[in-house]
Amino acid sequence: MKALILSGGKGSRLRPLTYTNAKQLIPVANKPVLFRVIEAICAAGIREIGVIIGMDENGQRVRDAVGQGGRWGVDITYIPQEAPLGLAHCVAIARDFLGDEQFVMFLGDNVIEGGISKLIRDFEQAEYHCQIVLTRVEEPQHYGVAELNPDRSIKRLVEKPRNPPSDLALVGIYMFDAHVHEAVRAIKPSWRGELEITDAIQWLVEQGYNVHPYIHRGWWIDTGKAIDMLAANAKVLEELTPAIAGFVDRESRVDERVTVEAGAEIINSVIRGPAIIGENTRVVNSYIGPFTSIYHHCLVENAEIEHSVVLEHSKIMDVPARITDSLIGRNVEVVKSELKPRALKLTLGDHSVLGLI
Ligand code: DAU
Repeated sequence: MKALILSGGKGSRLRPLTYTNAKQLIPVANKPVLFRVIEAICAAGIREIGVIIGMDENGQRVRDAVGQGGRWGVDITYIPQEAPLGLAHCVAIARDFLGDEQFVMFLGDNVIEGGISKLIRDFEQAEYHCQIVLTRVEEPQHYGVAELNPDRSIKRLVEKPRNPPSDLALVGIYMFDAHVHEAVRAIKPSWRGELEITDAIQWLVEQGYNVHPYIHRGWWIDTGKAIDMLAANAKVLEELTPAIAGFVDRESRVDERVTVEAGAEIINSVIRGPAIIGENTRVVNSYIGPFTSIYHHCLVENAEIEHSVVLEHSKIMDVPARITDSLIGRNVEVVKSELKPRALKLTLGDHSVLGLI
């Protein structure tokens, strides 16, 4: 069995972070979502992985970060996509890589509780042509949606319907055999101009192929938007096994559920878990509250922050108010300025959001 990870796309809902990074590389609990996807695939025993990337800087960034897969003991083949023409388009351009083998397709921005090992085992043993993963959500109109028959077989699948026929959303994890290639050739682009995998699966259902819906009951997050990023961060932090590899001085109080990575220093500060402090980050005279991830090489001094994600090389210093529910990019400075006039001095990228009090 092979795996196909989709790591192209524009990431427009995560701007400005995605102007300078692929959304799949943004860390959740200090590890890029894409690495979590690779680890889940690897844990399921799959070693051959195709990765769809854009033909832009973000595609190159994914290549640079993931490499040939040696770190995980897997073999990575990159498949460049000229433009985000749809999830089924990704299957079409991966045809040579996939051959006629069974494969799992995993969206590179999805995080799911419990991994995929059992799903893969079930699919390999059963006689399904396709297995999809469904979960109940509050706003199904933002997803592919499944309508089931009373016997739990699939009646119909629709992509982002205005009037959803159920609350069962398609999670971004799909298992296929070679019949999907016929389906992908048979469908036409949707109203949004994309070849939808949802339409390809609907085609399989209509042709009488055995498409099995698995209902996932744990948490699942599609990290496409900033708010989802914070939610994913919180869920993953709760699952981390804490470890203190860095230095914590005697004046600091660090909760049990806190991870302090190698080279990090906690000086005269309070950290309430679950939280993670990245490599070579310094936290001085500060408070870090629950559900916070501070990535590598940051400085937090005389500041309070909780329920937030801070990316690498950022500096938060002498901030008079507590920062909360925030997603702070790389090389950002949030500092008190002594320069006259006393005023807010901002350099914000396009699409930035600043919540003043
Ligand atoms: O997250 C689950 C949802 O994912 C499903 O419920 C929907 O049925 C499915 O269509 C998909 O919807 P999204 O609108 O969230 O997909 P998005 O455009 O965000 O793309 C998902 C991932 O695939 C993302 O990591 C980018 C990548 N991608 C996307 C497209 C359209 C590609 O690599 N190439 C593409 O052409």
